[in-house]
Amino acid sequence: MFFPFLQRLSARTFSLGRRLLAAVGDWVENRPRVAAWIYPPGEGDYREHNGRMFAGFHEQERMLADQPRMAFYHAAIARHIHPGDRVIDLGTGTGILAALAARRGAAHVYAIDHSTILHHARTLAVANEIENVEFVSTHSLDFTVDEPVDVILHEQMGDCLFDEAMVANVTDLRDRLLKPGGLILPSAFEFYCEPIKVNDGRLVPFIWELNVHGYDYSILERHRPQEPRYYHLVSSDLNLVEHFLSEPQPILTVDLHTVNEADLPTEITFTRTVVNPGRLDGYAVFFRARVDEDLSLSSGPLDGRRAPHWGFRILRCDRDDFAVGDQLEVRLSVGRWPDIDTWRWSHTKRAATEPVAVG
Ligand SMILES: C[S@@+](CC[C@H](N)C(=O)[O-])C[C@H]1O[C@@H](n2cnc3c(N)ncnc32)[C@H](O)[C@@H]1O
Repeated sequence: MFFPFLQRLSARTFSLGRRLLAAVGDWVENRPRVAAWIYPPGEGDYREHNGRMFAGFHEQERMLADQPRMAFYHAAIARHIHPGDRVIDLGTGTGILAALAARRGAAHVYAIDHSTILHHARTLAVANEIENVEFVSTHSLDFTVDEPVDVILHEQMGDCLFDEAMVANVTDLRDRLLKPGGLILPSAFEFYCEPIKVNDGRLVPFIWELNVHGYDYSILERHRPQEPRYYHLVSSDLNLVEHFLSEPQPILTVDLHTVNEADLPTEITFTRTVVNPGRLDGYAVFFRARVDEDLSLSSGPLDGRRAPHWGFRILRCDRDDFAVGDQLEVRLSVGRWPDIDTWRWSHTKRAATEPVAVG
């Protein structure tokens, strides 16, 4: 008698405790700044992951075969690196940007990388008779030189622009090792988060929105996954996005000559007026790097000249239909820019005719 009672009591206590912990977990997950404070970023883990990712040939060949990317860097170096310049190539990979800078006449290029790919970069430089490049196997935060340099050259852009720690790594070198008035190449970035409609033939709805030959999945809505990863997708399929609902505009512009990571906003609210009606399926996150008015590099999902090896990210949201003239007020809050799992997004709809608010 007493034993079954104890059993029931402990089962209830555990179940209550579990529900309480889940509720606290959800509360924290939905507050990116609190989550970033409670789960501090594992910088060591990220470094290790990044070093491993770029160590193999496959990641390097995807980048080298990306023609818009290579044409952009080739032109940028030809225009902005001058004979006699001293250059740091941050994250040299196979050494391609360092080699282009050396061929342009740079007096000395420090080609640094924390990945074992550097071993192959050295071999390639010898085989291609590249001089004036000094390869240094190190993480940039640990790198130093006696005399400041004229140029910091880098390609540290992730799919979501900030997710390869570009701002932290480049600004650290800028503040320690770049001459006053020195150049960061590239330095100007536009960051976009555009409401989109996905092509019907490519749309993958949330599972609870599905009805497959009369088999209804709506019951699963009560089991919406809590992990943030479920709510964003990566793609480089040019047929995925049918259209932007409104005219694209950057929601953030960054100049690496002046920005500091701590100055990046943690909350951005922006309004879009719908010009292309249709279903809102989410937001496409992409970037443009700009070197000159006529020289830029895009990862946009509707840009036929986009650099193909970068994916664009789709931040998924509940379906909502929009007519021409409707307004969308979008809120993006960010715990840590390099970690998309700490990003949260929501919108409010204002219909062209009468104001309606949704969650
Ligand atoms: C996107 S790849 C670019 C490679 C090469 N620059 C190119 O354009 O083909 C980035 C490279 O930077 C290296 N890397 C990333 N962060 C670094 C850091 N903080 N210090 C040194 N190397 C880094 C990676 O190992 C990788 O090889």
